[in-house]
Amino acid sequence: MFHSSSVPLGLFPVVSTTPSPAPAYAIRFPEGKDGLSQDEEWCEVYLDTEWRRIRLHDYGAIYSIPGLYEHLFYQTLRCTSPAAVAGLLAETLAHEGEPATGLRVLDLGAGNGMVGEVLRTLGVAHVSGVDIEPAAARALERDRPGLYDRYLITDLCDPPARDLDILRECRFNCLATVAALGFGDIPPEAFRRAFDLIEPQGWVAFNLKESFFTRSDDSGFFRMIRALWDQGVLQVQAYKRYCHRRAISGEELYYVAMVARKMRDIPEALMRQIGTGA
Ligand SMILES: C[S@@+](CC[C@H](N)C(=O)[O-])C[C@H]1O[C@@H](n2cnc3c(N)ncnc32)[C@H](O)[C@@H]1O
Repeated sequence: MFHSSSVPLGLFPVVSTTPSPAPAYAIRFPEGKDGLSQDEEWCEVYLDTEWRRIRLHDYGAIYSIPGLYEHLFYQTLRCTSPAAVAGLLAETLAHEGEPATGLRVLDLGAGNGMVGEVLRTLGVAHVSGVDIEPAAARALERDRPGLYDRYLITDLCDPPARDLDILRECRFNCLATVAALGFGDIPPEAFRRAFDLIEPQGWVAFNLKESFFTRSDDSGFFRMIRALWDQGVLQVQAYKRYCHRRAISGEELYYVAMVARKMRDIPEALMRQIGTGA
């Protein structure tokens, strides 16, 4: 049972963060949607001659359908996160008198290139991406070819040496990771590996669901960020609470964007201390 044949456009304020036009799809959401957690949300999309059920966190399925990721998350559910995180990074750089053109960014959980696209508009000269989902690379090649200098499908929890060599050669001075931490996506170990690829004094720009900043969070990120901050591994420069997107119920989902300087690599002992490392 469904409450409507699609989310009426105009239900939410129009905040376009995607310059690329996306094909329109008919999308409908389940009734009783208020009871679904963010990780359980699903929709049905009309494809060819039938409605197909897709979980919102099934990125492989969504990337495989041209423009669906943009239509669903950006046009229908009004996701603002790439603009919010990149905007906070740009503001912080301006405050510090550093040009965005000097950034060499590693976009972790890069997906089909939404963050890379915003970073390019800031004038960032080098952007490389990593994702774990092969369909993301295919969607990127299909929809935004040439956007990234390098784009690897790899698992940073256990990356092949060859991938690490390629990433080290990029000499990153900025890590960006947007809408990809927690919810069984990027675990703290992979974040740590990416963080360690960034030069000291480099930048780290990311977002987390607001509730992940509470002590009840079990994703490990609250403990990790708190420990990194406490022990001077990170120096937080700016943070901002904002509406990441609407849930399928229409409720606003709040995230916190954070921009910090990396002061040094994450000590092995810190990962053991927070219980997310070997
Ligand atoms: C919500 S999407 C965000 C994509 C993009 N950053 C954006 O803002 O549009 C989350 C992405 O994280 C990727 N991801 C999940 N687990 C990952 C992991 N362990 N390593 C790298 N990427 C991962 C998913 O494949 C997906 O592309």
